[in-house]
Amino acid sequence: MSEKIIMDCDPGHDDAIAMILAGARTSHLEILAVTTVSGNQAVSKNTRNALNVLDIMGKGEIPVSMGASRPLIKEPSFAEEIHGVTGLDGPKLPETPRHHATPHHAADVIIDAVKNSDEPVTIVATGPLTNIATALIRDAKIVQNIKSITIMGGGTFGNWTPTAEFNIWADAEAAQRVFNCGARINVFGLDVTHQVLATDDIIQRFALINNDVAGFVVELLKFFKSTYKTYFDMDGGPIHDACAILYLIKPELFKMQHTHIAIEHHSALTYGTMSVDLNNVTDGEKNAYFAVDVNVEAIWQVMEQLLADYNL
Ligand code: BDR
Ligand code: CA
Repeated sequence: MSEKIIMDCDPGHDDAIAMILAGARTSHLEILAVTTVSGNQAVSKNTRNALNVLDIMGKGEIPVSMGASRPLIKEPSFAEEIHGVTGLDGPKLPETPRHHATPHHAADVIIDAVKNSDEPVTIVATGPLTNIATALIRDAKIVQNIKSITIMGGGTFGNWTPTAEFNIWADAEAAQRVFNCGARINVFGLDVTHQVLATDDIIQRFALINNDVAGFVVELLKFFKSTYKTYFDMDGGPIHDACAILYLIKPELFKMQHTHIAIEHHSALTYGTMSVDLNNVTDGEKNAYFAVDVNVEAIWQVMEQLLADYNL
């Protein structure tokens, strides 16, 4: 049986890979909608990228809806150093995608898709949490039909400040709302995503898969690897966002810990920091399942199988 998902994202190299894995035939995930948010780049660029990626996947029929052009409170900022001026630099993509975004705002699309579904829906969040917080502010009752909110973000250390990860830092007020909404929350932070690095060896393995979608992933990973070398001196791009999708496909790839998570959004020094109570030192309510470990080699094998699904 397939699981119904909404992908709220800011593609973004690793968001694009997450979409491709979700759309693979044997993922057993059904993408109801892709919604876009300001994050890696301006939301208009992220939307264009989402449309182009779906087209490459042969899934242009999946509706894309554009959402927030800025965070709830702070000014927008982008991760251009990592994802380039288009948000998806590397592979050559059409200026004008073949399909159009719907005229509806992402938050309304999320509300309608969740409310109208005959079974609980999973929201996969791989960008800042602005659209999801907005949907929850507009209609808190949607929580009743959310199976999980499965998030790439945060961790016990940072990549944008010493203590904050980009997606959470980009809109910490939104993140705080989402973590307190009462839905089941699964979190894939830097603790696991920085273990899953697409080094040259991994890129070569994917290059052996003989189809255009795998070829596109190889181009994405080459660019991602180069910016991660320049800015973080790492030997491969972490496939961050793909972890959230891989968990839904094969939960046993990860070890999860039920814990209390809070988001700092007052202090200038630690804005966007995720406080993860792994040692149970508070009596805060356990409101999230946090990934503490990952089976790295099994991840690459599962990705190879899913990418091979795109063979004709
Ligand atoms: C997250 O930030 C973005 O740059 C990536 O797409 C990922 O969602 C990693 O910190
Ligand atoms: Ca992302």
